[in-house]
Amino acid sequence: MKTVRAVSKTWKSKPTVEGAGVHLKRAFGYHEAPLLDPFLLLDDFRSTDPAEYLPGFPWHPHRGIETITYMLDGEVEHGDSMGNRGTISAGDVQWMTAGSGIIHQEMPKGDANGLMGGFQLWANLPASHKMMEPRYRDVKSRQIPSVFLKSGATVRIICGRVNGVRGPVEDIVTDPEYLDVAIPPNARFSHPVKEGHTVFAYVVSGAAAFDEDGSPPCDTGTLVHYGDGESVAVTTAMEPVRFLLVSGKPIGEPVAWRGPIVMNTQEELRIAFEEYGKGTFIKHT
Ligand code: CO
Repeated sequence: MKTVRAVSKTWKSKPTVEGAGVHLKRAFGYHEAPLLDPFLLLDDFRSTDPAEYLPGFPWHPHRGIETITYMLDGEVEHGDSMGNRGTISAGDVQWMTAGSGIIHQEMPKGDANGLMGGFQLWANLPASHKMMEPRYRDVKSRQIPSVFLKSGATVRIICGRVNGVRGPVEDIVTDPEYLDVAIPPNARFSHPVKEGHTVFAYVVSGAAAFDEDGSPPCDTGTLVHYGDGESVAVTTAMEPVRFLLVSGKPIGEPVAWRGPIVMNTQEELRIAFEEYGKGTFIKHT
């Protein structure tokens, strides 16, 4: 008998302002991160107001982490210190491993109706990989498989495996899974997860019960943090639900975090910002 995980804690994402003045909702960040190891931050930047997103995220550095951008509407124009240029469009994923360091900008653009939105997740890197060579996985929407389950659920697999189908992002050090799950009304979705891994869901729209222990239904903008176990089970009633389901192996190392740079020690942080100031931040080109 596989143990179905119980919901341990839920909370709502909160409005905040980031970058050059982008209004977004933060599902978790600095204060909640210890509970979500290896994940550091999740931002929900869905918006219908260009004034709230056009300021964008001009040039800034990252070191020691991965940033994972998943677009639902509109697009983000991306450019970096290595000369890479590209557009992340609706349905696409950019899985960026900053490693030793990149300097980039991320500038949102709305669609024809002014709609723009998606999610940015930060995953930490262990000490052994913080200074690894920077790497991109640019995944186009058509490369992300959708699996249709007997229960009626539809799962887009960005990373991980459902019914033997693998997502396009592989070989990530924290062994993550990243799924976009949609369940119709009056249906049940269950999915195996690794024991000991951190697992959370973030409700994109609709509502559902996220365990079988009688937890109250969770709706749009709710972060659902799970206790340990071997699977998760989500059940809908009258409403459908869409949510991100993310898991990963905890790193269990000290976290020294300032802005877009996350290292293990304050000294490593000091060096990173000193290098950024002196123009010696980039180690791999
Ligand atoms: Co960034």
